Amino acid sequence: MGFEAVLGRLKVKKKEFIEHHHIIAELMEDETVLRMKEFRHHHFTTCLDHCHNVSYHSYKVCRFFGLDYISAARGALLHDLFLYNWRTDPREEGMHAFVHADIALKNALDVFELNEMEQDIIEKHMWPVTLKRPRFFESLIVSLMDKYCAVKEIAIGWI
Ligand SMILES: [Fe+2]
Ligand SMILES: [Fe+2]
Repeated sequence: MGFEAVLGRLKVKKKEFIEHHHIIAELMEDETVLRMKEFRHHHFTTCLDHCHNVSYHSYKVCRFFGLDYISAARGALLHDLFLYNWRTDPREEGMHAFVHADIALKNALDVFELNEMEQDIIEKHMWPVTLKRPRFFESLIVSLMDKYCAVKEIAIGWI
């Protein structure tokens, strides 16, 4: 690949990074969202880092396919806003894997006004572990990016 091509790719990446940053800026300033820093996720990352990763990848894939990348980025950033340590503080509602999406949605709605798609993204991100099927392509993409990022985060930590 030539220098011009590499430079072109870097410019696109920078543009995407800045656009994504602007889309989630309001959410990233919120103290409830920032509390996700307190919780470790997938062993080596914080919950906030994980949600940011899922948000960025979901934004890129949805943008590529001409989908609603703004709702995807916002919903993905909030998808794990459950705010407890699931290893040490199990919830009485049930097993973490089955209940945390509903808890995250409730926490998100306490702070933000979310559209239908953003709510669906949070609520259905554990599909197919939970049986609630995504209603939108964007929800499916966030669910896939969640698994992709989780595997990547765990793998990078072990290298
Ligand atoms: Fe989750
Ligand atoms: Fe997640």
